[in-house]
Amino acid sequence: MNIKNVTVLGAGVLGAQIALVTANRGFNVVSWDINDEALQAASKRFDTFGAQMVAELEDTTEESMAEARGRLSQTSDLEEAVREADLVIEAVPEKLEIKKDVWERVGKAAPAEAVFATNTSTLLPSLFAESTGSPERFLALHFANHIWLQNTAEIMPHAGTDLKYVDVLEEFAEQIGMVPVKLKKEQPGYILNTILVPFLTAGQYLLANDVAEPEDIDRDWRNSTGSPRGPFEVMDVVGLRTVLAVGKLKPNPEEWEKKFQGILEEMIADGRIGVEAGRGFFTYNEQGQRVG
Ligand SMILES: NC(=O)c1ccc[n+]([C@@H]2O[C@H](COP(=O)([O-])OP(=O)(O)OC[C@H]3O[C@@H](n4cnc5c(N)ncnc54)[C@H](O)[C@@H]3O)[C@@H](O)[C@H]2O)c1
Repeated sequence: MNIKNVTVLGAGVLGAQIALVTANRGFNVVSWDINDEALQAASKRFDTFGAQMVAELEDTTEESMAEARGRLSQTSDLEEAVREADLVIEAVPEKLEIKKDVWERVGKAAPAEAVFATNTSTLLPSLFAESTGSPERFLALHFANHIWLQNTAEIMPHAGTDLKYVDVLEEFAEQIGMVPVKLKKEQPGYILNTILVPFLTAGQYLLANDVAEPEDIDRDWRNSTGSPRGPFEVMDVVGLRTVLAVGKLKPNPEEWEKKFQGILEEMIADGRIGVEAGRGFFTYNEQGQRVG
């Protein structure tokens, strides 16, 4: 299948990145958002992310970014946005009702061959596959924040997806500079978070239960497995505000979980929010390398 025209729905943190990276790799991209105010906010995001990509990607220059911006158009008309799409990637807010509503409209307006992908992090595609009107063409294509560097793309079908679209998205992901990872069926948290969340939780448990200090927990993990980072350095990379926000989502936390949240709250109040501030559980230089 030859994908040329890509429509990205929602131009927030992730949608703007997906749209810009896709345009930067030569595709025609339509970026849709709800109203003029949202379109203006998105345009500023394109400026910011574009400058970051020029700084961080060897093959992207100011000239090539200007060309990419020329391939990227914006609209608040949803039906118009998808009318000529070969691929629609949805990155609207993580609310089931919003996703269902958007996909119902897309299903009616998009070409009959278009591939439909959602970037949802926590909702399973099967929860809103029927809304698309063509569940066999619908699957998840999940990016990570800062997508041009953290460039894994998890491709996850639901039980009703025609698996040929997994291969279509694998090829597309490669074309836009991603490292595609294929799942064979639905899994909450995809592959990464299925592994990462228990890994980080175990580190948090060892600290909050006063079993060992972050330095020793990470040293054990690094030295015993050959991994470059232990759980506390990974939390510093993720950012401690995000780690705290995710922890707070859990209803009825255990005592040790409350204690760990207290530790994070103190660190955050002290400005120790992770690698981006140069200080978290450990200290970092401007390149984000650990120095202490
Ligand atoms: N932020 C992340 O790190 C991250 C990572 C991977 C996946 N995701 C997923 O990507 C999707 C988007 O996340 P995000 O962080 O970009 O969100 P965001 O809030 O930054 O952006 C959402 C965009 O959708 C627009 N939108 C469209 N329809 C809307 C409606 N009916 N009501 C309100 N706003 C509407 C908003 O204007 C906004 O620009 C979610 O499904 C999320 O799970 C996010």
